[in-house]
Amino acid sequence: MPANVLVGAQWGDEGKGKVCDILAADTHFVVRYQGGNNAGHTVVHDGVTLKLHLIPSSILSPDVTPVIGDGVVVDPQVLLEEIDLLTEQGISADRLVVSGNAHLIMPYHREIDRVTERHLGRAKLGTTKRGIGPAYADKAARIGLRIQDLLDMKIFGQKLEVALKEKNAILTKIYNRLPMDAAKIAEEYAGYAERLAPRIADTSLLVWSALREGKNVLFEGAQGTLLDVDHGTYPFVTSSSPVAGGACTGAGVGPREIERVIGVTKAYVTRVGSGPFPTEDLGPDGERMIEVGREYGTTTGRKRRTGWFDAVLLRYAARLNSLSDIFLTKLDVLSGIDPLRIAVAYTHEGRTYEEFPPHQSIFHNCEPVYEEMRGWQGDISAARTFDELPEAAQAYVRRIEELGGVPATWVSVGPARDETVVRAAVGAAR
Ligand code: GDP
Ligand code: IMO
Ligand code: MG
Repeated sequence: MPANVLVGAQWGDEGKGKVCDILAADTHFVVRYQGGNNAGHTVVHDGVTLKLHLIPSSILSPDVTPVIGDGVVVDPQVLLEEIDLLTEQGISADRLVVSGNAHLIMPYHREIDRVTERHLGRAKLGTTKRGIGPAYADKAARIGLRIQDLLDMKIFGQKLEVALKEKNAILTKIYNRLPMDAAKIAEEYAGYAERLAPRIADTSLLVWSALREGKNVLFEGAQGTLLDVDHGTYPFVTSSSPVAGGACTGAGVGPREIERVIGVTKAYVTRVGSGPFPTEDLGPDGERMIEVGREYGTTTGRKRRTGWFDAVLLRYAARLNSLSDIFLTKLDVLSGIDPLRIAVAYTHEGRTYEEFPPHQSIFHNCEPVYEEMRGWQGDISAARTFDELPEAAQAYVRRIEELGGVPATWVSVGPARDETVVRAAVGAAR
């Protein structure tokens, strides 16, 4: 059994946590391959609600080994707090392993994230202020500190000095902040080193060996396709590669290992932070999606922006990730909204775009072309088979599949694990 990838098909918060928890049942290893604690993944099972930021969302499956891969940026304080919180709840994170190549988020990354956002004023990106962008910037600039540096605090201290010299100049001279103290940071991180050392591993080798032994591996994406640093709505993106290809670089596996790519897609669209959003609905329907769908950020608590399903984005995500399946989530939230709208194309200056526009100005200023669909009434969260969904809901799902060119193998009708319609026939027919 090969490896599969689970990826967000929109701007994040599609419900990847729930999906990962479900798919983990048939899996031996679940690997986070990018992002950091900007992610907020919610898992609901047996009355327990877990909000995870760094630890893979498979943590409720005790036989699965959770892996934090090379491409992740790790804030060790957050990681250890998350482990402790789980332990307090009786959930073991004993099997968790962390790549030695993963980069560390440092206190100055968090500070720079905060001050640069403030400095941008109205042009701010609306980041999660967790230091993600500055940590990835240092990685690319080759002055980052990595998890494996924690194993040799002498080298850690030398690298810290180099990095901090530049950061303190930026903090004091550009942003008028106080400098940070290297010795204090080194002492703090030495404490983390002690606790993390036993978990540090060559995770690429671990995954490769698992695959050779016929084990199942799931790569869990954070964020979403439209937040990808290369393919998303730049500059309103995160600083990593959430797309499926990111699993190869971020976990250290070759593309030939990957079989299925499951795109998690909400039945409408949300986005947190700044940036273009053609189908955003600021009226009562959007407001209803926020309230019924409880669209408040898992990480920052911010109200999410909401809007109509956008098939242009789905087609784009299907192409970029080579999606084999859709896991459609939150269909239940649309109950009672009639009619429903789906964007099938955009128009801009007299031209129609059926594919994601190649130039940002078009995407920023385009108008969606909507198709109206009949809505349905009543609670659908008890549906477990496709036939149990109201006819209008079935038609809505079918239209999404048709427009995206990808089968919706699963349809989620509530936050809990079992509130899911599994369309086995669709999966088996492929
Ligand atoms: P992620 O970042 O992709 O893991 O998504 P989040 O956890 O940030 O946000 C998704 C939210 O929707 C969470 O509160 C989930 O519990 C919830 N959720 C997931 N699937 C469904 C669903 O089908 N219906 C409803 N009503 N809620 C869902
Ligand atoms: P999950 O994994 C939704 C957004 C931020 C901001 C932009 C850049 O829960 O789907 P960053 O802190 O990454 O530099 O912020 O990206 N963002 C997310 N939006 N879900 C997420 O993660 C996000 N992670 C980052 O709101 O607009
Ligand atoms: Mg989230």
